Amino acid sequence: MATVNAGILGTGHAYPEGILTNADLEKMVETSDEWITSRTGIKQRRKAAPGEYTSLFAVRAARQAIERARIDPSDIDLLICATVTPDQILPSTGCLIQAELGANNAAAFDLAAACSGFLYGLTLANTMVRCGQSRLALVIGAEVLTQYVDYTDRSTCVIFGDGAGAAILGAVEEGRGILASRIRSDGRFAEQLYAPGGGTRLGTTPETIAQGLHFYKMKGNELFKVAVRSMADVSREVLEEAGVRAEDVALFIPHQANQRITDAVAGKLDVDPERIYSNIAMHGNTSSASIPIALDECVEAGRVKEGDYVLLASFGGGVTWGGVLIRW
Ligand code: COA
Repeated sequence: MATVNAGILGTGHAYPEGILTNADLEKMVETSDEWITSRTGIKQRRKAAPGEYTSLFAVRAARQAIERARIDPSDIDLLICATVTPDQILPSTGCLIQAELGANNAAAFDLAAACSGFLYGLTLANTMVRCGQSRLALVIGAEVLTQYVDYTDRSTCVIFGDGAGAAILGAVEEGRGILASRIRSDGRFAEQLYAPGGGTRLGTTPETIAQGLHFYKMKGNELFKVAVRSMADVSREVLEEAGVRAEDVALFIPHQANQRITDAVAGKLDVDPERIYSNIAMHGNTSSASIPIALDECVEAGRVKEGDYVLLASFGGGVTWGGVLIRW
């Protein structure tokens, strides 16, 4: 069967109005702006207000992507919402977004791969478009992580923020679009970043809530090492598969987890620091939303031009990681 290349036709992003600064956190836990800035690069993060939920931001980001791709929502035949903070357990947030958008001809579902969710979604959508199963796919990364953050735990509460990003994927001319992609996971490291409660193993009970088991727990310094190694390795793999040299990458967008992780990955790859995008100072870590938010910010700022090689790399709980190389 003849295959077509899939590329990004439009992007969008959205986040809550509410801002939580390092100064705010200084009043909540034993921390300092100096510590947070020097250890993570984060200055502020967006925080959803009570009553604001994941699909609200996802729909706003998706509408922007749809408008920029100049398509009709009814033409979307695949809708993937990458999230670990769904609106509710049933139905999927993807289906709720579908109804809001009027994307009534899509197969909609959620994908849980934590911070790698958007690249997992892109990889699946790419395969579906390439083999002719899908013509126009909407891939969203959306999170309201702050509802799962324990604001008495200084090691996690400084990291996470809320937001959503989206991309429309469709056929593009040969030699363009997604040139290579890889997704990977290793469940042996599951407890490096996890929420023990709230599922079927340890359900939501007064006891599990009192013990804070629904909140994220993180082994930050162990994750740090795995993150650097896996993002650098997967980036090399996709570059090699496409026959593109690191120095030819015009824009590198790593998952925005920590500025020191980004710097360490960049150092291993030999990518010119000016070509690496970082918005960690403004958004913190927004999990699956981090890469599509960053990508859309780059599009809006005119940082991606036709023909550019754009490298995306992610890492997250699971643990999961992935790399996607695009010729814009
Ligand atoms: N403010 C002040 N001190 C803090 C702090 C905070 N917000 N958070 C932790 N500390 C303290 C610790 O208690 C520890 O104190 P101790 O030495 O007295 O025990 C000390 O700082 C060092 O802790 P450590 O965890 O070793 O710090 P670190 O340099 O590894 O930085 C992270 C912590 C979380 C910033 C860093 O490990 C990280 O970013 N890891 C990756 C996390 C990540 O990306 N997660 C998402 C994956 S998608």
